Amino acid sequence: MSHKHSNPESIKAHVREYYGRVAEKTLDNSCCGKSTASPCCGSSATSPCCSPIDRPCCGEEQGSQIYGTTELADVPDGAVASSRGCGNPIALASLKEGEVVLDLGSGGGLDALLAAKRVGTQGFVYGLDMTDSMLELARRNAEQVGATNVAFLKGDIENIPLPDASVDVIISNCVINLAPNKGQTLREALRVLRPGGRLAVTDIVIDGGLEGLPVGEQQVRAALSWAGCIAGALTSDQYRQLLAEAGFEEINVEVLYRYSLTHLLPLPQTLAGLAPSALHDLVSRFTSSSITARRPATT
Ligand SMILES: C[S@@+](CC[C@H](N)C(=O)[O-])C[C@H]1O[C@@H](n2cnc3c(N)ncnc32)[C@H](O)[C@@H]1O
Repeated sequence: MSHKHSNPESIKAHVREYYGRVAEKTLDNSCCGKSTASPCCGSSATSPCCSPIDRPCCGEEQGSQIYGTTELADVPDGAVASSRGCGNPIALASLKEGEVVLDLGSGGGLDALLAAKRVGTQGFVYGLDMTDSMLELARRNAEQVGATNVAFLKGDIENIPLPDASVDVIISNCVINLAPNKGQTLREALRVLRPGGRLAVTDIVIDGGLEGLPVGEQQVRAALSWAGCIAGALTSDQYRQLLAEAGFEEINVEVLYRYSLTHLLPLPQTLAGLAPSALHDLVSRFTSSSITARRPATT
């Protein structure tokens, strides 16, 4: 692992503290206006809710296109305000009534609540997160909409607190890149899925790797933010390989959106001296991607 937080526990502590602050601001209502579709990413670079480097987690450019306004109509403002996803896993998951869903890194609960509407009262949704204030916010949001088919569990996505083969669908939005041990996370995902169950994830993925740039991969990763979802991102090939090694089949990793230079401003010092063409080449390799896969029916 090539990053200033070289120890997995220190990465997790950093991520927990970072997202704890995001949730607390929303709980306090002291930040993130109530009416904006994606207030955590405010339209201004000086938005107090997130520094520019955080934006890839927010998918600002996709804004309300991530979720249609109709889809967000019945969701509490606090769930939208604290949303830090980079895509819409609900659109990928083709959820059906009665299914059991697990959302890895459920944050303020937006995707879990949208999933709960889709699976109905015959179905059930678990949101899993390791950050206390995110869990508090998600539970408050669920209560606000009277959702009874959802529960938010405290835990680590590398060690999922659910029994084997207990879930039909796993969703996740911009979280797996944050896990220090992604192979373990994907093995855990396979374990809790029922045979034939599916994974529908959106995440930051480095399309084509970080080779052939004027600065080495280690330096690039060290310069970028882990909590902002970019320094820990897998390449598309690594994602496919780890999914296959975990036992998944029908693996598909597809670019939804490429990031641009504004997402990295102000530039970390290591990257500031790069020629504009090299910078463009680097930044456009960072993508919001969809990742789908299935647990084989026979395992
Ligand atoms: C970028 S936010 C995304 C939240 C949510 N999925 C969304 O779309 O708004 C990352 C969330 O994942 C949680 N998280 C990060 N690493 C985790 C881990 N190892 N185990 C459990 N939760 C984790 C954080 O606490 C945070 O709530």
